Amino acid sequence: TINLKNRNFLKLLDYTPAEIQYLIDLAIELKAAKKAGREKKTLVGKNIALIFEKTSTRTRCAFEVGAFDQGAQVTYLGPSGSQIGHKESMKDTARVLGRMYDGIEYRGYGQAIVEELGAFAGVPVWNGLTDEFHPTQILADLMTMLEHAPGKALTELSFAYLGDARNNMGNSLMVGAAKMGMDIRLVAPREFWPDEALVKQCVAIGEETGARILLTEDVEEGVHGVDFLYTDVWVSMGEPKEAWAERVSLMTPYQINSRVIAATGNPNVKFMHCLPAFHNAQTTMGRDIEIAYGLAGLEVTEEVFESAHSIVFDEAENRMHTIKAVMVATLGE
Ligand code: CP
Ligand code: NVA
Repeated sequence: TINLKNRNFLKLLDYTPAEIQYLIDLAIELKAAKKAGREKKTLVGKNIALIFEKTSTRTRCAFEVGAFDQGAQVTYLGPSGSQIGHKESMKDTARVLGRMYDGIEYRGYGQAIVEELGAFAGVPVWNGLTDEFHPTQILADLMTMLEHAPGKALTELSFAYLGDARNNMGNSLMVGAAKMGMDIRLVAPREFWPDEALVKQCVAIGEETGARILLTEDVEEGVHGVDFLYTDVWVSMGEPKEAWAERVSLMTPYQINSRVIAATGNPNVKFMHCLPAFHNAQTTMGRDIEIAYGLAGLEVTEEVFESAHSIVFDEAENRMHTIKAVMVATLGE
């Protein structure tokens, strides 16, 4: 039997395939219970700190709603307004918050920072995104894939991730696919493939789990026959604005558009994105990009984003159910 009580959730590399599957199954159960009005509260009286050194919509709201549904209360510490990082080290912050809170979420920059928080807090710490990894997102993604492939197991599913495969999403999807024995294709310019050492580690995991990991620059080769297409922004939070010019020219061949959908050969292929996405010029950043580069969609076209292939809002909803599952499994009574 699996018991995750008091564990940190910092990266999927720390979890076994059975533990990852357990969290996904728990999320499926919690989702059904909430929809049926029979959810049981397991976090009553718990206090949870939410540290966000970068902005967020989904992750913050998922932690807040998940905690409230389970009877816990939260404190939100945003990118400004606390002593963290400016006046107080993470090691000291960890020991202070660990005295007051029962669980701590952290979104920020280096993975080493959340690892340090996890080492010194003395209570479960959950990674809400770092430059290297976004593990709660992957739980939601795998859950969403299962929902859209009824009767199938993760080992039977394939997906292609196009774009910046060196970022937190590329890294974590590769780890998740390796752990769960999936068929993953990372389709990106070579300089945006994940770090060599992480690839080696994932290939070794895949030898145990049966995962197939393909890295390619060739879109046609990468997407052929897949069940899911996945992409993410070409420039991530914390990267300089100046990165856009180079990225736009390098990544444009990896945009998910109707040609890529057709190249899968799968009329039922589903489109996924962790969001937020640049698929039109209806945001201030989107408008700036449209003006600078003459493009109204970047990593995905408006046509694909709004098409019947797109399951991005199921995916966004599942952030809440999976984050709730992480809190319940590590902290619930
Ligand atoms: N996908 C995701 O993490 O979204 P937010 O940045 O809005 O939390
Ligand atoms: N790679 C993106 C993911 C956002 C959820 C970023 O880090 O900005």
